[in-house]
Amino acid sequence: MFPTRRPRRLRRSPGVRNMVRETRLDPADLVYPLFVRSGSGVRDEIPSMPGNYQLSIDTLLEEVDAAWDDGVRAVLLFGIPDRKDDVGSEAWDDEAAVQAAVRALKKSRPELVVITDVCLCEYTDHGHCGVVRDGEIVNDDTLELLARAALSHARAGADWVAPSDMMDGRVGAIRNALDEAGMDQIAILSYAAKYMSAFYGPFREAAQSTPQFGDRSTYQMDPANATEAILEVGLDLDEGADIVMVKPALPYLDVIRSIKDRYDVPVAAYNVSGEYSMLVAAAERGWVDRERAMLEILTSIKRAGADVILTYDARRAARLVR
Ligand code: PBG
Repeated sequence: MFPTRRPRRLRRSPGVRNMVRETRLDPADLVYPLFVRSGSGVRDEIPSMPGNYQLSIDTLLEEVDAAWDDGVRAVLLFGIPDRKDDVGSEAWDDEAAVQAAVRALKKSRPELVVITDVCLCEYTDHGHCGVVRDGEIVNDDTLELLARAALSHARAGADWVAPSDMMDGRVGAIRNALDEAGMDQIAILSYAAKYMSAFYGPFREAAQSTPQFGDRSTYQMDPANATEAILEVGLDLDEGADIVMVKPALPYLDVIRSIKDRYDVPVAAYNVSGEYSMLVAAAERGWVDRERAMLEILTSIKRAGADVILTYDARRAARLVR
């Protein structure tokens, strides 16, 4: 008998394809990462991330207004400090750029979900995500500093804090600090399975956070490991993480799927700078259709199991799918 099952029947028209489509992007899924620094009128394009800028608070507010009009409802803030030192003390300065930006954003748009990246690497002169002693990145001494930074962001009004440093025990340390300060409603989005990736290159130019010696292989995960991601996520959940993230996204779709199948919590995925920039570069050369490739990439991340997607293309994507 010639095939009785013919899958092509359900691909015959846009109406039918639309009806049986399994994965749909929604602007509500998207988080837009932004870089903020002090000053005013600053809008410095990041050379390796075309269309992304270092912004001051006034231009940040304009950018967020435009993003809101596109349908974006959540942002992730990174700070570019005025001065760096060996412990990254500007990270917990209540008057620094991120903290001021959070206050300004929550004042102008209270409904916007404001998430802050909690890490020291942008703020330390050595560019590592923790305290350095004798050439080593010291875990436990770093926890207290991360908790200070998270508290400072929460005081400014952040809805969620997002530790990206990969120190052991940092989610618990931050959760304790927030709870002791009476901020039990501030959520933690942990970068739970964060890999030591080549795809962070453009971000490090944007955030001026390249390590000045060595690399991040003693704290970020080995790209070859998948079961270890299950361990990392389990630990972060035990310590009080509300949402867990896999980062980067595309080379780790298998990890996103296994985390989603294993744990009953929202899963986020970070479509990182290098993933964004390589698409932009290929599109500039006319080698791929930028919008189609972008939607295919974001759909694949959601299909793999991500509930939340952090992407530098949030505005473009929201405009196309809203
Ligand atoms: C800070 C941090 C990094 C990214 C997010 N938070 C860089 C790193 O770990 O070196 C990367 C984001 C991106 O590449 O888009 N620890």
